[in-house]
Amino acid sequence: MDPREYELMYQVEDRHWWYQGMASITRAMINRWVHTPNPRILDAGCGTGAAMTTYLADYGKVSGVDLYPQALEFCRKRNASRLARASVLNLPFAPASFNIVTSFDVLYERAVADEVTALKEFFRILTPNGKILLRLPAYDWLRGQHDERVHTNRRYTKKLVKELLQQSGFVIEHISYVNTFLFPLAVIKRLSERVFPSKGVQSDLALSPGSFNGILRYILASEAPLAARISLPYGLSVIAVGRK
Ligand SMILES: C[S@@+](CC[C@H](N)C(=O)[O-])C[C@H]1O[C@@H](n2cnc3c(N)ncnc32)[C@H](O)[C@@H]1O
Repeated sequence: MDPREYELMYQVEDRHWWYQGMASITRAMINRWVHTPNPRILDAGCGTGAAMTTYLADYGKVSGVDLYPQALEFCRKRNASRLARASVLNLPFAPASFNIVTSFDVLYERAVADEVTALKEFFRILTPNGKILLRLPAYDWLRGQHDERVHTNRRYTKKLVKELLQQSGFVIEHISYVNTFLFPLAVIKRLSERVFPSKGVQSDLALSPGSFNGILRYILASEAPLAARISLPYGLSVIAVGRK
């Protein structure tokens, strides 16, 4: 990931509509699909630590792992303590160390040469019946300038995520596209980026002005109960729950 993106992520992830809306969706997924009392949770590719230290901490004891020291520095600023620097391709944990592994927008990065190797690592460190909660960006044809900033290797379909999880040994419990309601707007934005490219490589993380940010957050968060129950037919991300 472009080093500038860590600072930006750290600054906006407590307020940006996308992070806030995705947090609501993730909570709904955990509430419906993961019922483990006091679980040990690993956030694999934890970034600057917002998910770990805000909502994941409500469910159990959370540890974080990330390849890049810049990310872990920001996690420490959030007072996260159980942190390790490592690649998802080779995790420094014994088999059956965790009940839940979460990995949000990590396996698509160029630094993850092979998703199945990473998913097999998640499988190895999970307890029997342990759960993986995975989120990845959808559709390669939706690549935009933000994908350059975050070093996207590829984007996914529901079918591909399902296949990758199954190849790694997981049983799929639920899989859905999310960020469905805002999908038409996002397609227009991406296509207009191609017609009117801006100078330099832009991040999507710039905060939208106050009320607009609130409206977008409301729209995204309102998908949460639906996405946790049914498989939405299209969207900007794929989210899946798998069981070991
Ligand atoms: C787009 S960020 C997502 C961060 C966080 N999961 C979130 O949802 O905000 C991708 C993260 O994956 C990390 N990453 C990339 N390749 C990795 C690898 N091979 N092993 C561990 N972390 C990796 C990056 O450093 C970055 O923090």
